[in-house]
Amino acid sequence: MLPLQIERLIKEAEAARKKALAPYSKFTVGATLMTSGGKIYHGCNIENPSLMLSFCAERAALISALVEGEKEFKALAIVSGSKDYCFPCGACRQMLAEFAPEIELYLASEKGIKKFSIAELLPHQFKKI
Ligand code: THU
Repeated sequence: MLPLQIERLIKEAEAARKKALAPYSKFTVGATLMTSGGKIYHGCNIENPSLMLSFCAERAALISALVEGEKEFKALAIVSGSKDYCFPCGACRQMLAEFAPEIELYLASEKGIKKFSIAELLPHQFKKI
């Protein structure tokens, strides 16, 4: 990914974060997912008073791309209101491992930008053999 493309993804993730519905945690997250063809999908976290139904920004972006038939993914940018990097939760890692195993993850915070792979974040992922 070119630095300008990464910057764009992060900017758009900031915009998506503004749409987060997180009245319970007050922790807002935004994500931008880019397909291999360059199409962009956004996600934000969506909470529910039945807290276990809350939905992460990363999975929101992934699902909106999957329902459009997207199959090949290039990059995912994640931002939150935290001063630190917002790492995807275990459930999101597992879903990304299934549908986007080669994706480049860009975590952005005021500390800067860090790049990770799914293999780094989820070694020994669950697979049904
Ligand atoms: N959350 C995300 O959307 N993505 C992450 O990577 C971690 C956590 C959401 C879930 C919940 O709405 C809030 O952030 C934390 O309580």
